[in-house]
Amino acid sequence: MRVRDQIYVLHGARRAALYDDNSKVCSALDDAQVRILCALAEGRRPRAKDLSLETGQFWKAVADMNQRGWLEAGRPVPRSLLPPVAAANGEFVLPDRFKHVWLELTDSCNLTCMHCYAESGPQRSRAGELSIEQWTGVVDKFLDWGVEQFTFIGGEPTIRMDVIEAVAAHIRSRSQDVTICIFSNLVSVPTLPRVVPKLKQWNIQIGTSLYGASGKEHDTTTGKIGSWVKTVANVRLLLDEGIRVFAGIYTDLSDGADDKKTRLEAWARELGLKHFDVVASSQVGRGTELCWAESNDLNSLPGPMSYGFARWDRAGTYHNCFHDHLAIGARGEVMSCIMQRETDIGDVTEMSVEDIISTSSFKQKAYLGKDNIETCSQCEFRYACFDCRPSAIGPDGHAHAKPDCGYDPLRDLGEALQ
Ligand SMILES: C[S@@+](CC[C@H](N)C(=O)[O-])C[C@H]1O[C@@H](n2cnc3c(N)ncnc32)[C@H](O)[C@@H]1O
Ligand code: SF4
Ligand code: SF4
Repeated sequence: MRVRDQIYVLHGARRAALYDDNSKVCSALDDAQVRILCALAEGRRPRAKDLSLETGQFWKAVADMNQRGWLEAGRPVPRSLLPPVAAANGEFVLPDRFKHVWLELTDSCNLTCMHCYAESGPQRSRAGELSIEQWTGVVDKFLDWGVEQFTFIGGEPTIRMDVIEAVAAHIRSRSQDVTICIFSNLVSVPTLPRVVPKLKQWNIQIGTSLYGASGKEHDTTTGKIGSWVKTVANVRLLLDEGIRVFAGIYTDLSDGADDKKTRLEAWARELGLKHFDVVASSQVGRGTELCWAESNDLNSLPGPMSYGFARWDRAGTYHNCFHDHLAIGARGEVMSCIMQRETDIGDVTEMSVEDIISTSSFKQKAYLGKDNIETCSQCEFRYACFDCRPSAIGPDGHAHAKPDCGYDPLRDLGEALQ
């Protein structure tokens, strides 16, 4: 038997993980599996006694790897198991296209959610918001450069429905391929039925936000009684119209996370949602004081990770989002992400895309790849693991902080994490 071609093994400080480049899934390996894979990759026939393994342990590991499609019939062939990580040579490679550009049309909002990273609400000033013409100029710059997705967001972007309608029509006049999304709390009931035909015509997706399976839970977070009823009714309306809806379901997962997640997932499916994620909010903006993240007491391995989202040959050097995502604020200020809100990169109304990505502040964040993150740089999962930097940084503001992921590659499994 030999190791299949698309299989790679990455060693961490104490353990190793396998990257299956066919399915783009990364999985933890146990010690027996590592020894067998390494022997095969050195061109040796692995035998239990040569690898200091018990016979039962050896065959169990082989059977498991065979079943997962990591091995194939044939003589062992010498080959490198190292993942093909591109060397950056210290040179910054400018992104030739953007995966995602967020357009924050306004800071204002009809709700005052307690966790809101953008600190939005009705009290926020609307002075200086970009006009339709200015937003059209902004999307033109990114369309000329190359962009895969625009998302209209805020605050509550439907407050600027005039901008959404004009700019979405403009984007479609230039490209049918760019994904367009509106991220809205969907509380604004009267306008939605009027807008639905345009959403269909321009193939626009909707993102929305839910905070529980009942009005009591949801409205406590949004600060508005009756908001759950309206949002849920509009989710149903959009799904009935065949529009793709994604829902972020935010909740306090610090206690009994598994039960709560399962209950909310079942409710979301019942509602008809196919695309949703049950997550805790991040400690950003008004969410800074909330500790909703699942607490991890003992060191445990993460489950299989899909890494289809990433250029894994760049994961060590470049941040998975900051190198080809941007957020544009209501007045044209450029931010790395909707949750990484420093505005030191510049102003999109005055700069070209090339100017923006050439700034030292853009590059500094773009370079926050896994090899630059504390402890993650020694983790075997580092080229597959998605890094949400604003969540990891938290209230401490330490740019290179390790996320509280429940795994520490430097410690024994089962060891206390706190
Ligand atoms: C800021 S809102 C803007 C769009 C719209 N007003 C809405 O609520 O859907 C975008 C999304 O970010 C989520 N969000 C707000 N604060 C957050 C935080 N601290 N951590 C994670 N997500 C957050 C909201 O729940 C919402 O799903
Ligand atoms: S999360 Fe959305 S709906 Fe809630 S206050 Fe923030 S912008 Fe408004
Ligand atoms: S967050 Fe860091 S330590 Fe945790 S699994 Fe990902 S790369 Fe490893």
